[in-house]
Amino acid sequence: MTRATGPDGSGQSAALDNLLSEDRAFPPSEEFAAQANAGAALYDEAAADREAFWARQADRLHWETRWSRVLDWSDAPFARWFAGGRLNVAYNCVDRHVESGHGEQVAIHWEGEPGDTRTITYADLLREVCKAANALASLGLRAGDRVAVYMPMVPEAIFTMLACARLGVTHSVVFGGFSAEALRSRIEDAEARVVVTTDGQYRRGKTAPLKASVDEAVQHTPSVEHVLVVRRTGEEVAWTEGRDLWWHELVDGQSEEHAPEAFDSEHPLFILYTSGTTGRPKGILHTSGGYLTQTAYTHHAVFDLKPDTDVYWCTADIGWVTGHSYIVYGPLANRATQVVYEGTPNTPHEGRHWEIIQKYGVSIYYTAPTLIRTFMKWGADIPARYDLSSLRVLGSVGEPINPEAWMWYREHVGANRCPIVDTWWQTETGAIMISPLPGVTATKPGSAMAPLPGISAKVVDDTGAEVGRGGGGYLVLDQPWPAMLRGIWGDEQRYRETYWSRFEGRYFAGDGAKYDADGAIWLLGRVDDVMNVSGHRISTTEVESALVSHPKVAEAAVVGASDPTTGQGIVAFVILRGGGAEAGEDVVAALREHVAREIGPIAKPRQIMVVPELPKTRSGKIMRRLLRDVAENRALGDVTTLQDSAVMDLISAGLRKPS
Ligand code: WTA
Repeated sequence: MTRATGPDGSGQSAALDNLLSEDRAFPPSEEFAAQANAGAALYDEAAADREAFWARQADRLHWETRWSRVLDWSDAPFARWFAGGRLNVAYNCVDRHVESGHGEQVAIHWEGEPGDTRTITYADLLREVCKAANALASLGLRAGDRVAVYMPMVPEAIFTMLACARLGVTHSVVFGGFSAEALRSRIEDAEARVVVTTDGQYRRGKTAPLKASVDEAVQHTPSVEHVLVVRRTGEEVAWTEGRDLWWHELVDGQSEEHAPEAFDSEHPLFILYTSGTTGRPKGILHTSGGYLTQTAYTHHAVFDLKPDTDVYWCTADIGWVTGHSYIVYGPLANRATQVVYEGTPNTPHEGRHWEIIQKYGVSIYYTAPTLIRTFMKWGADIPARYDLSSLRVLGSVGEPINPEAWMWYREHVGANRCPIVDTWWQTETGAIMISPLPGVTATKPGSAMAPLPGISAKVVDDTGAEVGRGGGGYLVLDQPWPAMLRGIWGDEQRYRETYWSRFEGRYFAGDGAKYDADGAIWLLGRVDDVMNVSGHRISTTEVESALVSHPKVAEAAVVGASDPTTGQGIVAFVILRGGGAEAGEDVVAALREHVAREIGPIAKPRQIMVVPELPKTRSGKIMRRLLRDVAENRALGDVTTLQDSAVMDLISAGLRKPS
């Protein structure tokens, strides 16, 4: 089922060839370069002695006990970074800033979707985190236990993550847009003892229940002892006495003091589930010292953060790794003042982001290409109505950014003045790996450019040999890095097979990439069966399993088709039970809803086509490549390996009918 297509086998390749003829380059202004945190010398320093370089980065943190060894790779592919070192992650993100006299500095300018706001200083943050830590400890949670966090972007979500870190409890944040079923499977896999949630959440001006999904999920998860509920929308919730606890009742009355304990550098900090090529999500495991070192270093070098003057805003949700590394851990370790926004970008109007930038004087803005393309669609006149002159660095993450979107971002948001950092990384890498340095790199629209100092990445061909300039292939990471995943929760074998078996001794990222004539790296999207929809990773098999779990569906094949706004859109081909090809719209609508219930609204197919048959090879594999051609309205590629080539005629004929 998982037929990998090469980077050149994807429908994107023609567009990408145009993209590689991109020859514009934008060096930073002299003024920016002169004040930048990271200069060109950093590359030389890292190259001269990689471990010494990383040890200097680890010195950004407070260690209770210094490490005895920077890197222990003797049990590869399981790394130990800063082995023997001990630290408390929450102490590093909160207490030490208060102790150094910055308690009155704003840590979080929180902006709720309905317009309510909260200003949280580092001193406030310390009190809140201590109270939450005391509350979690009072429930019997101890270092090594797991807590699931299923919350919208409210400050308590951040307090909870930091409280867990403070106690050595491993958090597993599950995106609030995921379904009860997705939550259930993640709680079960991690055997979480407590779930922290809210009564409901605001979405596009309306409230939607959230605790209800937790109630549904925990019916089947015996590990859960308590559900801790933050009141956010005020809506009615069902209540299970003894199990359910209100945040304001349990947490608010706790002591504002809590003594942090130091944990081993390799102590598990969090698990974050992400889609792989099979239906079952992988629990990516991250640990403490190396993770915090690299998130802090990259946040400092890539975003050029000046903690005394900058106002930073990352628009991600804490349900994704970007929220973990670049809202919670990296920025707070660096004593950033940041904006955290709860809602959607067009509530109550399409200028909301620009209004927020103007209101708080945001100077560093980090977002995703899908959103930039949405802003383009809404029109350049909208940002033009706001004062965006506080901006000085712009970032992008989540998928390849097309040059048009990059140029629009530069011109209409950055006034042709702000460097753009296109940052490539993954849930698994934990922190940014490939990116320009804003004060050094002459950026090319659409390229993530080069591995950061301290990081090694290569583009290799099928045999694992590095390709030359102008050549394309697979992206691999050939040296361990501090924030790297330490495995898949509970599945050592899957970790080895997924990442370390394709190319001996090297980490296979699952992305296609090319070097241009100057050696800059261009990411070309996934080469496996993982789709990227609005920057969210969703596997084709995950959606297929959801579809075939519906009683009406006999078989399903799912492909990611290119989409002008979301990057890729999910297109499903289904065979109904009994072979009925004449499906009404109600069946299609019911199937879309079914997928939303099984996985979450983000996985709803853009299009579902009911077909009489699916194209298969003689060995029975579904030929997704052909389905992708159909979904993208391309002339069909080679069909000679198809078991019955008439199938494609049937499918194409069916598609010409308006759905
Ligand atoms: C894609 C998000 C091109 C890539 C941090 C990767 C990108 C997957 C970029 C990871 C980028 C992320 N350019 N592609 N700048 N950033 N990707 O785990 O396919 O949600 O493998 O982590 O997103 O997605 P994840």
